[in-house]
Amino acid sequence: AKPWKGKSLLTLKNHTPEEIKSLLNLAIELKKQRQLGRHNDLLKGKNIVLLFEKTSTRTRCAFEVAMMQEGGNATFLDMKDSQMGKKESVEDTAKVLGRYYEGIEFRGYHQDTVEMLAKHAGVPVWNGLTDEYHPTQILADWMTIMEKLDKPLEEVTFAYVGDARNNMANSLMIGAAKMGMNFRAVSPASLAPDKTLMQEMQEVAMETGANIQWFENPIEGVKGADVIYTDVWVSMGEEDQFEERIELLVPYQVNEFLMSKTGNPDTIFMHCLPAFHDTETSMGKGIYDQHGISELEVTDAVFRSEQSVVFDEAENRMHTIKAMLVATMGPSGHF
Ligand code: CP
Ligand code: NVA
Repeated sequence: AKPWKGKSLLTLKNHTPEEIKSLLNLAIELKKQRQLGRHNDLLKGKNIVLLFEKTSTRTRCAFEVAMMQEGGNATFLDMKDSQMGKKESVEDTAKVLGRYYEGIEFRGYHQDTVEMLAKHAGVPVWNGLTDEYHPTQILADWMTIMEKLDKPLEEVTFAYVGDARNNMANSLMIGAAKMGMNFRAVSPASLAPDKTLMQEMQEVAMETGANIQWFENPIEGVKGADVIYTDVWVSMGEEDQFEERIELLVPYQVNEFLMSKTGNPDTIFMHCLPAFHDTETSMGKGIYDQHGISELEVTDAVFRSEQSVVFDEAENRMHTIKAMLVATMGPSGHF
């Protein structure tokens, strides 16, 4: 069986735990091949297009490098420069691009757009982040946990602390429910997980043995956690909510005190990045000066600590995206 052949990845909801696991195992194998310096040309002659409405470093570069390392090509299309959404509908754009390319990646605002592309393109479409979901990030996150922790995913207690209604929180909850994990969203009540999604995932959890919970109290929420994960307090497109979010989320900052409250000195810290943690970076400065705050969702001390695995996690974006590309477009027989 080749479950990923020709398939899109839009939310992670429509893939079985076995399918997700097989992709993670393929990513681990491809990482090994890369470390051995082997070039297998698994995507030779394949072309994909990358459509970006929102900015990106990791996702864009991971897709481009993954294609190039396996002998394929990627066209980057900044949507400011394309006709889509201006002179041409998403449907017509999908139909045209599907004639040129073997796959389409989309990053942008509306989940409807990526769903519409998938409906009309006739080739696999990959969601590289929308307002609602960020499924490819979850693949890298679970791969990193598999590498770092000495226990199977089903035994992992995972605490996501921060804005529990954003794309990362939604996708982490889906991924955790699928993989049978002990998942806790830890947030203020007004940023608690979407009720419908949480119920849906609690139903999935009944089949997989996962446990999906929400905690308002950060100290209770992280107790016994193997992983503390956070994300920015203000996602792309929500910049006008900055002040309100800071006020709500200050008690949920991941700092050394909160890390110590897991009761486990080996708890790892994860973040999808980019992160606001460093007063020295010119990137953060404008915001910090403006608001008189030195660190946001994570302190610099935790971000740079031994427990922090954020750069391995970022590297794994490339290996997992490559696995997804190989599994959907690669030669039959390999997967
Ligand atoms: N984690 C992540 O998606 O990073 P980019 O926004 O840089 O792609
Ligand atoms: N929640 C963040 C994730 C960035 C990878 C955002 O949407 O901006």
